[in-house]
Formats: sequence, structure tokens, C-alpha cells
Amino acid sequence: MTSYLSEEAGPDLTQGISLSDFGNQPLLRGHVGDEPVILARIGDEITAVGATCTHYGAPLTEGLVVGETVRCPWHHACFSLRSGEALGAPAFDPLPCWQVERDGDRIMVRDKITPKPRSIPVAAANQPANVVIIGGGAAGFACAEMLRRRGYQGQLTMLSEDSDAPCDRPNLSKDYLAGNAPEEWIPLKSDDFYVRNRIDLQLHTTVTKINTTGHTVTTADGRIFPFDRLLLATGAEPVRLPIPGANQSHVFTLRTLADSRAIIERAKHAKAAVILGSGFIGLEAAAALRARELDVHVVSLDKHPLEKILGSEPGDFIRSLHEQHGVQFHMGTSLAHIEPHKVVLSNGKELTADLVIIGVGVRPCVSLAEAAGITVDNGILVNEYLETSVPGIFAAGDVARWRDEASGKTQRIEHWVLAERHGQIAAENMLGANTAFQDVPFFWSAHYDISIRYVGYAGPWDTLEIEGDMAAYDCLISYKTGGKTVAVAAIGRDKQALEYRALIAQQQH
Ligand SMILES: Cc1cc2nc3c(=O)[nH]c(=O)nc-3n(C[C@H](O)[C@H](O)[C@H](O)COP(=O)(O)OP(=O)(O)OC[C@H]3O[C@@H](n4cnc5c(N)ncnc54)[C@H](O)[C@@H]3O)c2cc1C
Ligand code: FES
Repeated sequence: MTSYLSEEAGPDLTQGISLSDFGNQPLLRGHVGDEPVILARIGDEITAVGATCTHYGAPLTEGLVVGETVRCPWHHACFSLRSGEALGAPAFDPLPCWQVERDGDRIMVRDKITPKPRSIPVAAANQPANVVIIGGGAAGFACAEMLRRRGYQGQLTMLSEDSDAPCDRPNLSKDYLAGNAPEEWIPLKSDDFYVRNRIDLQLHTTVTKINTTGHTVTTADGRIFPFDRLLLATGAEPVRLPIPGANQSHVFTLRTLADSRAIIERAKHAKAAVILGSGFIGLEAAAALRARELDVHVVSLDKHPLEKILGSEPGDFIRSLHEQHGVQFHMGTSLAHIEPHKVVLSNGKELTADLVIIGVGVRPCVSLAEAAGITVDNGILVNEYLETSVPGIFAAGDVARWRDEASGKTQRIEHWVLAERHGQIAAENMLGANTAFQDVPFFWSAHYDISIRYVGYAGPWDTLEIEGDMAAYDCLISYKTGGKTVAVAAIGRDKQALEYRALIAQQQH
């Protein structure tokens, strides 16, 4: 069953409502004290959960109900309507839940309850004594969180090269870089979370070797960590081009919180920025630096920004949006060399620049896996359970190449939510769940006051169709191959993006 939610504020649910108040809808919005609550009708049963997404606070009344779950309209988190559990990232915290009393046709909401998340029964002999996660990003964090949520009791170690705990990476090119999101929003969890959950998070720690037969990993400082199960969640690193002058202190790439902080520091004293690359990160950074009132130039070898992913017409629309905000574009050219206060383009033009960001894509961090003899082919190859060619060693996130059921192809995709969901399924499979990964790829990107939500296969297509009015920020772009829609991008049509995702997921089962 797939239905939309009511958008009304609704009644005081402690006073009771009548079953007929639901009408034809599966959900009814009301409140308990100050808290917005949704009542859900699942067959004959009525449940009550919080109405606000625990990720960024989206109103779940604007989401989509699919079976016994509600999907968030903004970044597609999936919550159980029975237990409130955040079943699918990017939300991790559950929705609050209330006890519901029925008296004939009357429904009353009573006390708050705390349902226990499902644990995975693991035979003692199969319980791993040690799980090691390499990588403190989206996939690594989601794996660690899910291991503990599903009742894993053994040693859990996360080794991360980063200087900061797992953070909200997508924010680093958006509100945080623009100065609109405070530092305390950026960690995915506080330090206390790792202590309470007995996650031994080792920062500034580079793993240099995996011994697949001895089941150990070695770090750059010589420490050795044994493992029964290992997750490779090493992500991807920015491509660095051999441009003369690119090693100067005012030239940056953007991947980590430290990178974003360094750009912000530089931006405080800079007047003009040049961004090489017209992909999502380059353009989001352009918008953020405009918010800081820098002159911003985007330089790109492409003809149209975002062309490979969105197509030329949507790409040009995004370009015009940036131009309205003062960004200047130099397409079909690159940087010949970088000087302390200017750049020289390949076409000979010179631009003033006291801050340069190189945003020309990333490559997967596969060298550790490769050196250990794990099969690598444009990413670490994994089976449907996200297990690599070496049993007991899993891979997830940007570094993993897995079989995407929606497109029927092996894919390596660089999306936040996908990486987190890889991590979640890998965790369950480490505990013996044997769950095939079947999620539908999804990403979002934000530019000024518009958000783009993209669902499906991130790859080439034959034709695209635009339904609605892009200029009015209200359209659905369908990408087709062989006459079949393989992906959609939605602007101002969150519900349609959710619907499309639910449809693809349904077709896969
Ligand atoms: C600025 C920015 C904005 C983005 N915005 C969006 C967005 O809006 N929407 C979207 O869908 N996606 C977005 N992405 C992409 C998204 O962040 C990635 O797809 C996601 O982070 C991938 O997660 P991951 O866990 O695979 O890798 P990462 O999050 O990169 O984590 C990799 C981890 O591995 C560690 N590591 C690597 N090698 C080693 C080693 N040898 N030893 C120890 N540790 C190691 C790294 O230090 C890091 O902690 C954005 C990315 C960036 C950089
Ligand atoms: S606000 Fe709900 S998933 Fe982000």
C-alpha cells in the first residue's frame, strides 16, 4: 500500500478521536501536548509515532506511507510505524512512540512507550569476538551504529584517518561552508555516543595493511588489531590534478571537516574564489562562498554544469540560478596554472583568485584492499550481501562496487544515504542476517533555495523528459533508456520522488 499523509495539524489525541476521522487515509496527524504525533492505521491496528523526522526535522506528514513504514520527504529516511525505529538512514534515532487505546470506535493516545529494536539472534559460535571497521565516514558509522542496535556485544573498533569523528559530510559544502550551520550540528553523534556504545573510535589512524589469513589489520603507527569480521569503508578521495601551483596553501580540495574548516578560514580573508569543476560539490561550494560574499568563478572543461548527471537543459537551469546569485562561469576550459593571487586559464584568460577549490571528482580508496589480494575492479567488488572476495571481509559506501538490482548492473555510486544503508546491511550480515542489498540509489543536492532529489540509476541515459516547469522550481525530470525510466530528478516534487523510489523497490521484489 502506498499513500500520502494528511497535512492537517490535527486534534489533541489524548482526548480521543473517532476511527471514522481517518477517512480513507492511512495516517492522521494530531498532537500530544506540544509534540506532533501521527496515528497510523495498519490493518485493524492503530499505532502512534512522532510526526517529525529525526534527521533534519522534516514533517513526516509530507512523506509517503509504504506498508508499515513512513518515508521522509527530504532525504528518504524510513521509519517503522509500529516501533518508530529508523529502519533506513539517514535518520538513526527512532521516532517517539505512544501507547494507543481502543474503545469501540474511539481511539485514545496514552503514555509514551519505548519499543526495543529488533536484535539478530546470533549463535554463540558465530558471534564475532572482534569487528573492525576501517573508515569513519557514512558507511563506517552506520555499520557501527547498527551492530550495536542489533545487539552485537563483542569488541567494536573503528579506525579512521580523519581528525574528526564521523560527521555530516554533505553539510560541508552547504550550510556549514556558507556559515549557516553551527559546528555542533556537524558530528553525526556526540563523543558520549561512542563511549556508551563501546565503540572504540581511533581517529588520526591510518590502516596500512590487511592480513586476510591472519585476520589482522596494521596501522601506520605499528598497532595490530585482530578481527573476525572486517568492514572496508575507506570511501573516496578527491582527484588532485598536476596543475602547476596547485600545491600552494590557498588551493584546496573538499572532502573532510578539516578541509571545510580550512576553506572557511581562508574565505574570511579572501575576496575572490575560483572553483575548478562544475559538479555538485563545486557548485554547492560556489553557492556557499557567495553567501560569504566572495566573487566566485566556476571553471570547467564541460559545456554545461552537471551535464553528465542531469543533462544539458537542467544543467543550464542550475547555471542560470547560480548566475542570478552572481557566480560567473568559464566553461570549456581548465586551469593552466595557479599563482598566489590569480589563476591562468587554459584559454589564456586570467582571473583574480585568493582561494582556489579543485572539485573535479573523486576516486575510490582501494589500495589497501588491492594490496591484500581482495578483488578490486573500479571499486572493491562485493556480492549481494556486501561481502568481498574474502569471506568475513565486507565493503560498503563509495569504495564498494555492488550489483544494483534497479539497473541490473554492477555499480559504484558516491551517495551519502546509499553509503549509510550499505553500512547498515553489512552490519546485519556480519551478524548472520544474510540480507541481500536491494536499496534504490538516492541523492540530493541543495543550491540556494532549491533542492534536487535524484532517485535511481546514476549513469548515462538515452532521453530525458521534463514534466512541469523548471523555472517555477516544480518539475520531474525522467531519464529513460530503451523507453524505460531508469532515474528521476525532482525539484519541488518530493512526493513524486518518493513514489518513484517505492515503485522501483516494489518492482525489484
Ligand atoms: C562536501 C561533500 C558534500 C557531499 N554532499 C552530498 C549530498 O548532498 N548528497 C549525497 O548523496 N552525497 C553527498 N556527498 C557524497 C557522500 O558524502 C559520500 O558518498 C559518502 O560520504 C560516502 O561515504 P563512505 O563512508 O563511503 O566514505 P567517507 O564518508 O568518505 O568515509 C571514508 C572514511 O575512510 C577513512 N579512511 C580512508 N582510508 C583509510 C585508511 N587507510 N585508514 C583509515 N581510515 C581510512 C577516511 O578518513 C574516512 O573517515 C558529498 C561529499 C562531499 C565530500
Ligand atoms: S529530514 Fe528526514 S531524512 Fe533528512
